[in-house]
Amino acid sequence: MNIQIINGPNLNLLGVREKSIYGDSSFETYLTELQNRYPNLNITYYQSNVEGEIINKIHEVGFTYDGIVLNAGAYTHTSVAIADAIAGVKTPVIEVHISNVYKREEFRHHSMLAASCKGVIAGFGMDSYRLAIENLIVK
Ligand code: DQA
Repeated sequence: MNIQIINGPNLNLLGVREKSIYGDSSFETYLTELQNRYPNLNITYYQSNVEGEIINKIHEVGFTYDGIVLNAGAYTHTSVAIADAIAGVKTPVIEVHISNVYKREEFRHHSMLAASCKGVIAGFGMDSYRLAIENLIVK
């Protein structure tokens, strides 16, 4: 199975940024753990701070991959364009968040993307990504 993880804006700063919310592990360290845990999966990773690049990546893998795990960061709450990209491809997309967005500011309570996604996982720290993968592999 081919699974693409996509992280959006500011998630390149994981391990550095707001550690009390997002933890102190870099995504690269966590990714290695995930890849070791699922040696039979091809888990690829892409991060961009640019909305259009996230859309391009969804288009690129969205007709051939088995699943996309997407943490669109703040674009979750604003991006009609990413929602349209998710709706336009065949590959199921799972929206994930490290933090429990419902415990935070009200503007984080609404997702523009969720209705186009297979489901949403939020609030389990980095483990949110693994939980999304678990869903994709059970099918
Ligand atoms: C986030 C939550 C978003 O509200 C925020 O803008 C992020 C990270 C999370 O993983 O908890 O950048 O998606």
